[in-house]
Amino acid sequence: MTRTAKDFFAPLAVGAPAPLREIPARPSRAIHFFDPGNEKMAAKVPDMVGTVDVLLGNLEDAVKAENKEKSRQGLVDIGRATANLGGTVGPTQLWTRVNSLDSPWGLDDLVTLVTEIGDKLDVVMVPKVQGAEDIHYVDRLLAQLEAKAGLDRPILVHAILETARGVANIEEICAASPRMQGLSLGPADLAADRRMKTTRVGGGHPGYLVRQDPERDDLGVPQYDGPRTTYQQDLWHYTIARMVDACAMHGIYPYYGPFGDIKDTVACEDQFRNAFLLGCVGAWSLHPAQIAIANKVFSPSVEDVAHARRVIAAMGDGTGAVMIDGKMEDDASVKQCQVMVALADELAAIDPELKKQYDAIPDQHSGTEA
Ligand code: GLV
Ligand code: MG
Repeated sequence: MTRTAKDFFAPLAVGAPAPLREIPARPSRAIHFFDPGNEKMAAKVPDMVGTVDVLLGNLEDAVKAENKEKSRQGLVDIGRATANLGGTVGPTQLWTRVNSLDSPWGLDDLVTLVTEIGDKLDVVMVPKVQGAEDIHYVDRLLAQLEAKAGLDRPILVHAILETARGVANIEEICAASPRMQGLSLGPADLAADRRMKTTRVGGGHPGYLVRQDPERDDLGVPQYDGPRTTYQQDLWHYTIARMVDACAMHGIYPYYGPFGDIKDTVACEDQFRNAFLLGCVGAWSLHPAQIAIANKVFSPSVEDVAHARRVIAAMGDGTGAVMIDGKMEDDASVKQCQVMVALADELAAIDPELKKQYDAIPDQHSGTEA
């Protein structure tokens, strides 16, 4: 026996805030990455507050070794200077991705950020998480730092799934701490660690496909050289599906990670939508163009919300069965509709444009008992 259930309700350091018993469902459709050490990017941050659900100061990969301290300090400066960002004040959360726990910078990232701007930081993304031991380390350290900084609310932890061992240990990672907020797919590191043979950052691959069977001639001989349609498959389906189950089981949130081909907005939208349909709540944005894509894809469509409300209205107390437009709806499908409507309500609370669209849906009460 390691920790008992009740241990999870107690802070891991004297004076640290009490752990949360439930992870709040805060909208996080786009997690927009910026380098806080890059003056051009940092200057844009204040104007982006309110236009994106999450701004993430990235300190890990994509920041050069010689700029690590500069980026860390840049994030402290932004956290201090941007009044309506992060914490409990506004719609835009402030997250960071710290350097990995085996790097020369990971410890200083955590110590500096929590003691300097801990009150603004909502979530710390930890890369290259291998197992529960990594989360336990961060959990205790955060508690000590929160106590030192006098914080009154716990900082949450998000793990990137980007090693084979991390995928194998996915359940224990999700269960390792009440701070666990979610998981993101890290397709680039994961591909490398697994020795997959794609060199792309996320997205599909034309070589990963299935091919239609060959036509046969009149004698039944297969025409292997004849025309045959191919269908590209999703390299990431298995990992995302696994991540969705692990997160749902533990009451935390799954995210698609980065889509590196910034110009291919069409394929990015497809990849994000697959993740949304499978149960993910958001994705990373590596360029402002991807924010709009994620906001669109991870918000239920007006048609879906209209249908869901109609089923809920027709189902009364939620039991039994009704026919709507020739389709059977019952106790289970009304729950699917409730998932859709609950998400729409959460998003409408912070997105006035979306609220307008959902509010314009006419009330519909139709359906007949099956
Ligand atoms: C993200 O960190 C990735 O490795 O894809
Ligand atoms: Mg990575």
